[in-house]
Amino acid sequence: RLHDGDTIPEWFTFPDVVKILRERHPAHAPQGFALFFTGLSGSGKSTLAQAVVARLMETSSRPVTMLDGDEVRRHLSKGLGFSREDRDANITRIGFVASEAVRHGGVVICAPIAPYAGARTEARQLVETHGRFVEVHVSTPLEVCEARDRKGLYAAARAGKIKGFTGIDDPYEVPASPELRVDTSKSTVAEAADRVYEWLRNEQLI
Ligand code: PPS
Repeated sequence: RLHDGDTIPEWFTFPDVVKILRERHPAHAPQGFALFFTGLSGSGKSTLAQAVVARLMETSSRPVTMLDGDEVRRHLSKGLGFSREDRDANITRIGFVASEAVRHGGVVICAPIAPYAGARTEARQLVETHGRFVEVHVSTPLEVCEARDRKGLYAAARAGKIKGFTGIDDPYEVPASPELRVDTSKSTVAEAADRVYEWLRNEQLI
């Protein structure tokens, strides 16, 4: 919404206008950001992401775009497999969509495994062109993820029925300096969601 006295040349694009309004009226045009959860299969990324979305919905009217790993693979990344090349393409696509939403001041939540540091950095760079990238490493240890084995995939990987499974016979490059690290074997989902939420508040992103 424009305020009295705001003059914006008519040839400016919508993102230009958002940028100007954000500078002049921070409360009316808040900063877009992407919350990027990364971690092993079964680490609790999706559950935690959903809990954070619920917290955001309770306290804010800002729309949230959820790019969950499984959902993305059914639509945006349909046809991609789990080779390094395909995983990297998956993360780049997520980064691109996230950056477009962030460009318009949106809140985006993504929860892929994203095992390779290079692809995570690329997603960060895409998003940071327009807003903030908040990397949350869901650091639940492999033994715990494997013991949970909600989808039976670890058992299948151990039995050799799935090849190239992250953490078993495929790498997971641990994030060196994420904005946050949470371990869902040491805290409840609600506590972990609170930590993320408080972090965002401290950074004045919400
Ligand atoms: S990636 O690496 O970021 O592109 O992976 P992602 O898109 O998040 O997909 C992970 C989910 O795919 C299932 N799955 C596998 N995961 C890891 N390695 C292999 N080989 C594999 N094959 C299928 C698995 O259910 C993952 O789901 P989550 O929700 O992470 O448990």
